[in-house]
Amino acid sequence: MKKRQPHRDIPLGNFEEEQGQQGFYGRVSHLIKEKPSTRWTHIEGNLKPRLFNLAKFKKEGWIPLLYNDNVSLFLYQLEKADTACRMVDGDVLYFCHKGSGVILTEYGLLNYSEGHYFMIPKCFTHFMIPHSKSSFFVIKSLKSHFREPDRGMLGRHALYSSNSLIKPDLKALQNYLKKHKLEVKKVMHYHQGESTCFTYKDCIFDVLEWQGDLFPFSLSMEDIMPIMSHRVHLPPSVHTTFLTQEFIVCSFLPRPLEEDKSTLKVPFYHQNTDYDEVIFYHKGDFFSRDNIDKGMMTLHPAGFPHGPHPKAFQASSHKTHTNEYAVMIDSQSPFKRTKEISSLEIPDYWKSWK
Ligand SMILES: [Fe+2]
Repeated sequence: MKKRQPHRDIPLGNFEEEQGQQGFYGRVSHLIKEKPSTRWTHIEGNLKPRLFNLAKFKKEGWIPLLYNDNVSLFLYQLEKADTACRMVDGDVLYFCHKGSGVILTEYGLLNYSEGHYFMIPKCFTHFMIPHSKSSFFVIKSLKSHFREPDRGMLGRHALYSSNSLIKPDLKALQNYLKKHKLEVKKVMHYHQGESTCFTYKDCIFDVLEWQGDLFPFSLSMEDIMPIMSHRVHLPPSVHTTFLTQEFIVCSFLPRPLEEDKSTLKVPFYHQNTDYDEVIFYHKGDFFSRDNIDKGMMTLHPAGFPHGPHPKAFQASSHKTHTNEYAVMIDSQSPFKRTKEISSLEIPDYWKSWK
């Protein structure tokens, strides 16, 4: 058999499919097929690719989307300040899809705007004050804490430097409270699906100084430097932004496409046998998907191969860059759908590869 690097020199008119374990970290094989693996004609049953239009949800508040024992996903929208809160079930990673404002924490003030992640450690008090109507895609880790990916041979400052993680500004918090004559005396605790409100005699934000390596922080997508190869399409795992022991969070960002003529430019057809995959589309044109708009979310459960839409496949030969901003979660445990999400589903998505 001819030696061949995966994702390159695919015989003209044929299709490559990757079948792999442990996300993109385990054993894999690459199959050359005459036809793409996404040529199903009918799917009867619940295991199928799904698309949800989260932009259809206009109300304020929390809407639970998908969940399992390790991670739960929400959409959170607010126009005015909510109550200060502590998420007792685990670390919370907020991704700001729309709006701007401030987050007050005991460690200081963080500004937020579109395209920023905010990591608030488990049980840490935070109080969100929007300056404009705000919409967050929220990832709650229920078993282990978020950490940065290992950079390995890329060097410690690859992907994003630790300098790009913005620490809360304590002085700015003190000035903000003074300027707005604000005293925060109520804290809502969210725990095991219930809420408990603690009321205090005076303002809970009374920290004078702090030190240590555990603190809330923000990271802008603009400060993430995507990793790429000009010769071969790299797996999504190179775009890992944060991870826990049970799932990874990746950021898909604008980048140049591979240059070599013999290289596949769209994501390869693949069967990621151990992981369910969720993608939240923030903005831009998602180059491997047709008819996907900002504010939409896809769920591709483990169990069948998936890959680019036919139009995206054809269009890729003319493109030189991607212009996409999206957040992906690859989860070891299968996702369950909440009742609330069913009204946002676009039921014919599974037909979109035809
Ligand atoms: Fe995938």
